Amino acid sequence: MKTVLVIGGGGREHAIVDALSRSPQVGKIYCAPGNAGIGLQAENVPLKDTDVEGLKSFAIGHGVDLTVVGPEAALAAGIVDAFRAAGLKIFGHTQAATAIESSKEFAKRMMSKYGIPTASYRSFSDYDEALAYVSSRPFPAVLKYDGLAAGKGVVIAADLDEARKALADMLLDHAFGQGKVVVEDFLTGPEFSFLCFVDGERVYPMPLSQDHKRAFDGDKGPNTGGMGAYTGLPFITPEDRDFAFKEIMQKAASAMCSEGLPLSGVLYGGLMKTPQGIKVIEFNARFGDPETEVVLPLLKSDIYDIFEGVSAGRPVAEPVWSDYVTLGVVLASKGYPGSYQKGFEIEGLDHVDAQVYHMGTVLRDGRLLTNGGRVLMVVCRGKNLAEVRSSVYGQLSRIRCGNLFFRKDIAH
Ligand code: AMP
Ligand code: GLY
Repeated sequence: MKTVLVIGGGGREHAIVDALSRSPQVGKIYCAPGNAGIGLQAENVPLKDTDVEGLKSFAIGHGVDLTVVGPEAALAAGIVDAFRAAGLKIFGHTQAATAIESSKEFAKRMMSKYGIPTASYRSFSDYDEALAYVSSRPFPAVLKYDGLAAGKGVVIAADLDEARKALADMLLDHAFGQGKVVVEDFLTGPEFSFLCFVDGERVYPMPLSQDHKRAFDGDKGPNTGGMGAYTGLPFITPEDRDFAFKEIMQKAASAMCSEGLPLSGVLYGGLMKTPQGIKVIEFNARFGDPETEVVLPLLKSDIYDIFEGVSAGRPVAEPVWSDYVTLGVVLASKGYPGSYQKGFEIEGLDHVDAQVYHMGTVLRDGRLLTNGGRVLMVVCRGKNLAEVRSSVYGQLSRIRCGNLFFRKDIAH
């Protein structure tokens, strides 16, 4: 039996642990740092996801056969390079290849060089030049900090005042670091997420999903990490999906090989169906959260084979997916994505007849407590969206906690 270490501690990692626990080859699963829900299916290890040396020693000391990386911070910290150098098997991209997510400028340059459809752009390191360019163009203006910025690096400025403030934060005050700013055209249309397992030129697609990023119903309120997601997108045709697969995901994988930075892990296309066709909004070098929680429950194949094959650079059998659709709703702490309190007791989970993934929970003296902005995600599957929507919302009402809210219109 294989021993697996999963890095991370959110809903995404819970879904990965859950998929691994369905593999007949997998025995022991460790998760660092994990959370209360993950702790029911794996052994939590109190190490940070970016503690590369600590994690490496742990993997060596505990006979770990394969490590699977969830968060981009661990990839950007070079965990894959360090593990490989020590002869350890790990699923995830090298630090250099993670640039497809961690550098907006690198990603835009790569897309324009290889003809991958995306908004046209220019990049700037000088505040005055950036401001002059933005002033000469229509609003809204899309401004993206060129580096990891914990989800806060993209500003859609409605007017010149907003643009001036955002550019000053990024280029004068260096709020996120010394990076440049990418200014790109504003696109419109529904967004969706295309996750693929990628091993060099080999690309294995997962079912498409859509995340709901705004905090409140009707897509109102501030941007969050994601308040819910579903599969079975009604607005995507089979032709759209083929186009996105061949002209975007496969092309990006090939482009990274041509650049000498072959991918080995998950490539996440954040795509938009615009009136001019499907275009890339961003690439991520990892599983999405909350998309993973609705995608992986549909996987019929053994996920260990996929992780192991991709990490070894060996072809794997085309993954098989269920025809069901899934829908998941996030329960978040009141106040999120702004400031919120932790430590509220959660009750009623025993009575929920659905998959519950823990995003931010902790067990203290036998009581399950809230421990993050996003706390739980309830996922159901069924034959169509109407059916799963009513199942999820029916099950949600069984969870009792004094400090949670959720959107009532996921997959509206
Ligand atoms: P990103 O981090 O690049 O995914 O951007 C965060 C969000 O900003 C996206 O999910 C979009 O909703 C929005 N966004 C980013 N780029 C554009 C664009 N070129 N046009 C319109 N909206 C955008
Ligand atoms: N759901 C958005 C992300 O994972 O980046």
